[in-house]
Amino acid sequence: MDLQLKDKRVLITGGSKGIGLAVAKAFAAEGAHLVLCARTLAPLVKAGKEIEKEYNIEVDCQQTDVVDATSVTALIEHIKTTYGTLDIFVNNAGQGSEETIAEAPDERWQYYWDLHVMAAVRITRGIIPLMNSGGAMLFNSSICAKQPLGYEPIYNTTKAALSMFSKCLSSELIPKDIRVNTINPGLVLTPDWYNTATSLGEKEGITADQYLDRLAKKLTPIGRFGTPGEIANFFVFLCSPMASYSVGSTYYVDGGWLKVVQ
Ligand SMILES: NC(=O)c1ccc[n+]([C@@H]2O[C@H](COP(=O)([O-])OP(=O)(O)OC[C@H]3O[C@@H](n4cnc5c(N)ncnc54)[C@H](OP(=O)(O)O)[C@@H]3O)[C@@H](O)[C@H]2O)c1
Repeated sequence: MDLQLKDKRVLITGGSKGIGLAVAKAFAAEGAHLVLCARTLAPLVKAGKEIEKEYNIEVDCQQTDVVDATSVTALIEHIKTTYGTLDIFVNNAGQGSEETIAEAPDERWQYYWDLHVMAAVRITRGIIPLMNSGGAMLFNSSICAKQPLGYEPIYNTTKAALSMFSKCLSSELIPKDIRVNTINPGLVLTPDWYNTATSLGEKEGITADQYLDRLAKKLTPIGRFGTPGEIANFFVFLCSPMASYSVGSTYYVDGGWLKVVQ
């Protein structure tokens, strides 16, 4: 299937590893050009160079902290002055949390609110004037927006807010012929999960691998984590003109983990 993405320009936040990197490669395989951002420049640039070489497309790597409004403004200004327009935005940067509501201070809530919600608000507001008609925005939320994990109430809450933001945005932008959708991944094996499993496994005296295997078998009918590559093609399809009637929807890619019909 030709996804008609050749020479489109795609902004992906958190493009240096995990899901964002896999999505970047999947877009590159379709001939799209990329603007990738992350906080740490070295691994981002390394990934960008490898993608450019393998797929013969342009990769523009920008050091951006999406939590920081000034940094986001600089990213948008860069895209505006360098390219003038944008076709696709994948809002991906984010991270899991671990806390209790009884103990987590305001600052922690504020950080995750800025990371998962305000980053999306600020980037979207900045790029709306640059978006080409026929374009798409895709928000990487989480199954936890609907079906929470007990140890991360702040993650669950802020991802739920992100999903609602995406739904509201979809109505606002479809008159401009820009489609907005949300993906809720389940368990996807990325560096973020290894960090979480190391910390939670330590408390039980088991390794990160043991923790991850037990978790996947317990939670998912499929009995394993997905790979970033397994969900990346889904992202790319939804952003392509081949998904032209998909607007304001949320798609679960979760190995059957969601326990209700949605
Ligand atoms: N993995 C899963 O099972 C899973 C499931 C559901 C949803 N998700 C969602 O998928 C997204 C990606 O997760 P992942 O598992 O792929 O994580 P990951 O492997 O840790 O990668 C996160 C990416 O985001 C970047 N990033 C983090 N904070 C950032 C910030 N403040 N500003 C700019 N970039 C930032 C990281 O680079 P730097 O650290 O250099 O900034 C990295 O490129 C997240 O939104 C996550 O909530 C993941």
